[in-house]
Amino acid sequence: MIEEIRKIRESAQAELQGIDSPESLEAFRLLYLGKKGRLPDLFKKFGSIPPEQRKEVGAELNRVKEWIESSVAEMRGKLGSSDGVRESFDPTLPGIPPHSGSIHILQQTIEEITTLYARMGFETVEGPEIETEFHNFTALNIPLDHPSRDSFDTFYTDKGQLLRSQTSTVQIRIMQARKPPLRIIAPGRVYRPDTVDASHSFMFHQIEGLMVDEKVTFSDLKGVLHLFLRELFGSEIKIRFRPHFFPFTEPSVEVDIQWGKGWMEILGAGSVDPNVFDAVGYDKSRVRGFAFGLGVERIAMIRHGITDIRHFYENDLRFLRQFA
Ligand code: PHE
Repeated sequence: MIEEIRKIRESAQAELQGIDSPESLEAFRLLYLGKKGRLPDLFKKFGSIPPEQRKEVGAELNRVKEWIESSVAEMRGKLGSSDGVRESFDPTLPGIPPHSGSIHILQQTIEEITTLYARMGFETVEGPEIETEFHNFTALNIPLDHPSRDSFDTFYTDKGQLLRSQTSTVQIRIMQARKPPLRIIAPGRVYRPDTVDASHSFMFHQIEGLMVDEKVTFSDLKGVLHLFLRELFGSEIKIRFRPHFFPFTEPSVEVDIQWGKGWMEILGAGSVDPNVFDAVGYDKSRVRGFAFGLGVERIAMIRHGITDIRHFYENDLRFLRQFA
């Protein structure tokens, strides 16, 4: 039996030399490994050999079988299989490009806006998302009975803090920490208990701006916002300042841009209310300032024709890749 196995190995070795096509390889494979091939034939005979030879013969049989199988696989790699598919490595094919990440469209929008303001001397700063009532309301001249303080409009923690509902908190933090003059721009997340739909989210992004100096006027605010909105939406854009009310600015405006046949609200702004200067310990008889706040999602939606705010947060690559 051992002798027979040796002969099969030798003839297989010789025949392998002559294989030059997928077809002759397949014929070889059938001859040795096919159902009625030489090796299965030997395995059948294996059943009738004396038990004391089994260990040695069995090991030899398996060795030859594995050798023929791996030889066939190797040849197939060189020749291609009989269905014409080459399995070998083809160095002329283009490679598979690695996936590279990209910056989220909200972050791109934030960076674009803070870069525009940097050119006007505004430094980018950040503040905490978990805040005190003082920074989110009291110091911003928002009275105790104001509806925005209600738990329907603000998320409170059980330790008497809250998730900031506006980035105006950063006005307070920066004025507490520094002396005027100041020019800052503060991007970040804000939270409000709104029911999620196409235009609402319990979390979104704002950018706050604040300028404080001895002689800052409302016309400085107009000039800065005009420049900013023209850079963002093009020099042809029409801008409208509409009287409004915010507790922390006086006078206050909402700023609209012309959009289609109508107007679209873009941001809130105004001259810093003297009560805010009092709250942070600035001398209100010596300093003036303006502040503004805008929603980042809103700006990105308008500029890119995005119709549902939820797209920003769902990590759907079909959406994200459009801005890669
Ligand atoms: N904080 C205001 C808001 O969330 C926006 C604003 C900021 C208005 C600064 C005036 C000045 O609606």
